[in-house]
Amino acid sequence: MDGAHGVTRPTRATAGAPPGEHAKLRTRLADAEATLRAIRTGEVDTVMVAGKEGSQVFTLKGAEHAYRMLIESMNEGALTVTADKMILYANQCFARIVKCPLEQVMGSSFHRFLSAADQAVLRPLLKRADKSGSKIQVLLNAGDGSKIPAQISIRPLAKNGFNGATFGLVVTNMTEARRSEERLRSLTHRVVQVQEAERGRLALELHDNITQHLCAVLVRWAALANILPAREKASQGEVKKLSQMLGQTVEEVQRIARNLRPSVLDELGLVPALRAHCTEFAKRTGVCLKLACKPLTARLPAEGELALYRILQNALENVEKHARARHVTVRLRQRAFIQLTIHDDGIGFDPEQRAARRKGKGGLGLLSMRERATYVGGDFKIKSARGAGTEIEVLIPLPPSAKAAK
Ligand SMILES: Nc1ncnc2c1ncn2[C@@H]1O[C@H](COP(=O)(O)OP(=O)(O)O)[C@@H](O)[C@H]1O
Ligand SMILES: [Mg+2]
Repeated sequence: MDGAHGVTRPTRATAGAPPGEHAKLRTRLADAEATLRAIRTGEVDTVMVAGKEGSQVFTLKGAEHAYRMLIESMNEGALTVTADKMILYANQCFARIVKCPLEQVMGSSFHRFLSAADQAVLRPLLKRADKSGSKIQVLLNAGDGSKIPAQISIRPLAKNGFNGATFGLVVTNMTEARRSEERLRSLTHRVVQVQEAERGRLALELHDNITQHLCAVLVRWAALANILPAREKASQGEVKKLSQMLGQTVEEVQRIARNLRPSVLDELGLVPALRAHCTEFAKRTGVCLKLACKPLTARLPAEGELALYRILQNALENVEKHARARHVTVRLRQRAFIQLTIHDDGIGFDPEQRAARRKGKGGLGLLSMRERATYVGGDFKIKSARGAGTEIEVLIPLPPSAKAAK
């Protein structure tokens, strides 16, 4: 280190001090500030303070010891590395993460724990790491051959007189976090699967039982109406009204069953199914819906088509329930992937705030839309802001065979 700076213990400054005294005080203040800066940046390890009994020497060893204790007791890996990635110091926790004895870690290259791809990501970060620091996600090569998911936070430390720049790295083991994420994802997927199976069962019940019964009632009722004497005008009117009501009920039950299990998707494919759903939505709700969807030249696997159909259903359900929109545009395009966008000009919402507030409450709509898209390898985005409408965009990759056939 550079050596000691002297600091004189501050004396009381009085307002009425002569001008020469002021200049002296200012110099001392500047001196003290320079020393504090040097301590903060690690340029000094000893401070001399002038006192009545002569100069007193304070070493910063005590402070360093406390920091070291703190770093050793951390639950995260902590390292200092040089610009050419040599490990100057590592704590025990890092050695545990990479399953390597500490003495083999210190003095070795940090690169040995990274794949070539992660090394390439780290390199520019070390070059332009600023004080605010940067973070990367990597897979560390552990001593036993396993791969450890980790997050590395990088901060530049003070320039060191001998070795040039050094960096402080904090390494967080993400194994548990990844496992929890994985568990959560498979749970959400299971919920979606169970929901789908339950919907299928309900659709079948509605179709096989309720609709059949209602149709039988309708036929009986029509037979009864036929044998009513023609002169009973009032009863005739009632009979007609009731027949209409029964007819509407059958239609409604069939609509619900269709939504529960969209057989049109299996029979006619994605575009007719989306079209049928959009037409029914516009007719029922009175919202003006524009559908821009060119015929597709490739077909997605059944799971992908079902995901897109369910996402449209969910998105339109949200438009109906929450958006207070007047216009909706649904667009389906085929590129290297299938892109579905649903845009409404309604009241909008703040998706970030919504997610933060949910905490176990609220609907599953947006969550299951995202889950359905990611499960088939796709991407799901919501753009929304209060007063500025909502747009949902889903991208589902085409299978390689479909791309070749394009
Ligand atoms: N198109 C939309 N317009 C306005 N708000 C919306 C829209 N879609 C979703 N939201 C908001 O996001 C919330 C979550 O939606 P969702 O997950 O589908 O659950 P649910 O519909 O059961 O409330 C809604 O309660 C609503 O506040
Ligand atoms: Mg919803």
